[in-house]
Amino acid sequence: AQRTLVLLKPDAVQRGLRGEIIRRLEAKGYDIVALAQRTADAEELAAHYAEHEGRPFYSGLVEYMGAGPLVALVAEGVNVIGGFRSLAGATNPTEAAPGTIRGDLACEKDLPVIQNLVHGSDSEESAAREIDIWFPELG
Ligand code: GTP
Ligand code: MG
Repeated sequence: AQRTLVLLKPDAVQRGLRGEIIRRLEAKGYDIVALAQRTADAEELAAHYAEHEGRPFYSGLVEYMGAGPLVALVAEGVNVIGGFRSLAGATNPTEAAPGTIRGDLACEKDLPVIQNLVHGSDSEESAAREIDIWFPELG
């Protein structure tokens, strides 16, 4: 089956939404094959968000993601990469549909970076790369 890398971002941990988000993922039928909570260091975040380096929101993004503990997990299931992104909803919480994690649980703030509770890999290549960053022992 396919695997994806999910992050419950620091705002999700801080707001006490770990259980709610993991509940949705498990209720959908996906399996969690690895899970860890820690505060991300600069090296991990630079690797994880390499594609966004140079964007105007990049420094805000790294600051947000390193501001407190996050939960990294690997979920497994048929089409879990696209399936988890469907559960998450649109990047911008204002545009995210009701029924999605971001649509139901996040709202847009007047901040330098969009705080949207979760990350999910966007392709098989990204998933392999990101799983290797957060869970090198699974490789
Ligand atoms: P991730 O699952 O976190 O990768 O979100 P995504 O794939 O829906 O979005 P993307 O990879 O394009 O952006 C990564 C993160 O950067 C987003 O989740 C936001 O936190 C932030 N971000 C993306 N685009 C913008 C933007 O245009 N403005 C601001 N301020 N933040 C952004
Ligand atoms: Mg992305």
